[in-house]
Parts: sequence; C-alpha cells; structure tokens
Amino acid sequence: MSAPDASPLRLGIAGLGTVGIGVVKIVQRHAEMLEARTGRKVVITAVSARDRTKNRDADLSSYAWEVDPVALATREDVDVFVELMGGHEGAAKDATMAALKAGKDVVTANKALLAHHGQALAELAEGAGRVIRFEAAVAGGIPVIKALTEGLAGNAIRRVMGVMNGTCNYILTRMETAGLPYETVFEEARQLGYLEADPQLDVGGIDAGHKLSILAAIAFGTKVSFEHVVLEGIGCISIDDIRRAADMGYKIKLLGVAQMTGRGLEQRMMPCLVPAASPLGQLQGGTNMVVIEGDSVGQIVLRGAGAGEGPTASAVMGDVLDIARGTRLPTFGQPAARLADPIPAAVSAPAPYYLRLQLLDKPGALAKVAAALGDAGVSISRMRQYGHADTTAPVLIVTHKTTRDAIDVAIAALPATGVVEGQPVALRIEEV
Ligand SMILES: NC(=O)c1ccc[n+]([C@@H]2O[C@H](COP(=O)([O-])OP(=O)(O)OC[C@H]3O[C@@H](n4cnc5c(N)ncnc54)[C@H](OP(=O)(O)O)[C@@H]3O)[C@@H](O)[C@H]2O)c1
Repeated sequence: MSAPDASPLRLGIAGLGTVGIGVVKIVQRHAEMLEARTGRKVVITAVSARDRTKNRDADLSSYAWEVDPVALATREDVDVFVELMGGHEGAAKDATMAALKAGKDVVTANKALLAHHGQALAELAEGAGRVIRFEAAVAGGIPVIKALTEGLAGNAIRRVMGVMNGTCNYILTRMETAGLPYETVFEEARQLGYLEADPQLDVGGIDAGHKLSILAAIAFGTKVSFEHVVLEGIGCISIDDIRRAADMGYKIKLLGVAQMTGRGLEQRMMPCLVPAASPLGQLQGGTNMVVIEGDSVGQIVLRGAGAGEGPTASAVMGDVLDIARGTRLPTFGQPAARLADPIPAAVSAPAPYYLRLQLLDKPGALAKVAAALGDAGVSISRMRQYGHADTTAPVLIVTHKTTRDAIDVAIAALPATGVVEGQPVALRIEEV
C-alpha cells in the first residue's frame, strides 16, 4: 500500500460571495480539525472574484488574487479548483474545463453547470484522471449525493423525490400560514432577498429541475438530461387551492420526482399535493427534503437547510475533504462512458388528480361535469362543493388514478358543458 499523501491540499477559490466566503471561513476556523481528519493541511493559495475592492467579511490578505478565474484554475500552486461563481456558461464553464485539462480536481456548487454540461465535464474529468464533485449543487447542506453514490450504492433506486427549492417552499407555506395571496408573498420574498435575479429560476421550477436532473443521473445510471425534465412553476397556485387541499388532508409542494418506469425515465418538477401528515407534507419554510427509495433499504428521508452560507459551504468542504483523503469516485457514481442515454417517458405514471373548478349555479351542473370526466375515462373518487359566492361555486374533485393526458382531455371538454367558468386547476396527487 502506498503511503498516504501528507502534502498540503491547496485550494484556488473562484467566487467569494455567499458560498465562497463560507468556505474561506471554514478553512480558517477549522484548520486543525481538517488536518486531523485528513492527515493533510487544507490551505487556500489563491482566490478570484469580480470586484477586488469589495468588503467581504473575511481576511483574504494572505491569498494571491487572480483577476481571471481561468488563470486561477490553472495555477501551479492549486490542486483543487473550487468553482463558486455560478452560471452555466462563461467564466464558470471555462475555468472548470481549464482546471480539469490542467490536471486539477474540481469542487463546485453549480447545479446549472452540471445540469447543462454534466456529461461533458464527467468525461473530461475521468479522461484526465481527475474528479469533479458537486455535493453543494443539490439540496445545499444535505449530503444527498454522498447518500446515493456511497451509502445506498448497493440499492437499485426506485424513486427519488424532493422539495429542493427553499424559496418556493417558503412562498407556499407562508401563503398558507398567513393566508396571503401568491403575488403578495412573492413580493415579500423578493424584498427579503430570497429570489434569484431571474425569479423564474425559483418559481418556474428551473433551479429545482437542475437539481432533479443531477439526482436522476446518479440514481438511474443515465446521462444528465435536464432538457427532459417536465417543468411547471408555482405561479398557478392560489390561496384557495392551498386551503381546499388542506380541507382534504393535503399540502401543496413544488415536488420533484424522478423514477424509472417501463415507459422510460420520468423526471417532473411541478406543484403536487402530498398527504399533510407525510414528512414532505410537514416540511415548512425554506427547508429542503429529499426522499430516496431503494429496493433493499426502503425509504430514506433527508431533511435540512438547502441554501445559505454555512450549509452550502459545509457541503463544499465535504467534497474537499474527500479529495484530501484520496477518495476518488466516478462523477455520477459510475464511469461516465457507461452512463446510458435516457429514454424519457412520454407519459407519466398514473396518479390521482386534484381538480378545482368554478361551477355555475345551474341545475344538473355537477352531473354534466361528471359526465365530461367520465367520457375522458376519468372517474371521481371524492367531490366537494362549496357555497356560492355569487353565481358560481368552487367544486373540488379528487379523481381515481388516471393519466395527465386523460385529465387534459376532460378539461378541454368542460367549456362545452356550459356550466364551468374560467380555467380549471389540475394538480397531481403524489403518493409518498
Ligand atoms: N447561495 C446559496 O445558498 C447557494 C446554495 C447552493 C448552491 N449555490 C451555488 O453556489 C454558487 C455561488 O453562489 P453564491 O450564492 O455564493 O453567489 P454570489 O453570492 O452571487 O457570489 C458569486 C461570486 O462569484 C464572483 N463572480 C461572478 N462572476 C465572476 C467572474 N466572471 N469572474 C470572477 N468572479 C466572478 C462574484 O464576484 P463579486 O463578489 O466581485 O461580484 C461573487 O464573489 C452558484 O453556482 C449557486 O447556484 C448557492
């Protein structure tokens, strides 16, 4: 057995924002502990950000400063390039590729980069005998990549689910607890700085979809295919939906689900109803939760902070310490060359659906709706009608298991009944 490497592990950190400064603080605060745990000193040799004059709440005076992240990534005195800038093109991609080509290992928190270029980066890293690690890219501080690639490696994974965008979960739970409409809570979230510069990344499900595509690749041994994630945001959810769902024993979550079925790989990130008493149903505020189902282990539930300086830096450091110890795993848990091209499922597995309609106060209205659903092959499990506000009344329907296609056919037939006003809301009820 060769002697373990006792030389210092030298980090070059590009990006000194929330996560980058969090990493600097851990390296400085826990220097002795990190050395004790890995047998090597973990040191920072160089850093990079856009604005050198910014006050960053950390002492950076002993580190070299590089204006260009590519120059940082390829420095002689850098062993691990730590990419904490963000964005899936430009500096993050260029510097990451340059680092791998220059024989450096890479640690990143960048889900967009992995979702868009995961396969190319994995092939580049593995071809060069290097590793690219990204624990912080999915569900912040929750060590879910490690759980899938290591602790659960002996399981065939059946399904991975998760609430992985804290901002959306904050908005939905705040709407419920404060009884406020979506638009008001959205504005609150913006003022609190919870939303990305482009809010669609959060409320449109894109950020969470990036994370789901990374988990699906690891869970099912397929190339990352973000382009096949079915995305729906939370903008269509009203306070009425949240209240009515609660009446029927459900909570509404922006839930990601990936599963391999006989029809192919399903990846969907959309608002769903989950039982209020389930762990996912009980998740409050900005917290994240990932649920993994393996054939031997059954169901595992991981819960924790999905963002923020400390939790995200904690995940980055987990990866850095693995590299310091010499742990070297293939990027997505198996060699990139062996990852299959995913066949996306054309239709998702059948499930019960929640339907909310605004019914006109006319004789026989309910019977007409039931007939339209029946004609589309959708059968009703439960129905609840609320009092008339004016000329219309909300009606809630929970269907038996059906497909999204059948629901869409039924919805398309409703205007012809002459008893439904406005656009019905249809949400999948996920069995968790
Ligand atoms: N924040 C979280 O809670 C969290 C959680 C999970 C994952 N992540 C991921 O972690 C990464 C970093 O996020 P963050 O929240 O720390 O971002 P941030 O606070 O906006 O910081 C980004 C940093 O990158 C620097 N930067 C941006 N473009 C650059 C360029 N072209 N050249 C050099 N430096 C550049 C910025 O420099 P200046 O400071 O000079 O502007 C800044 O220091 C992203 O990929 C994000 O998706 C973040």
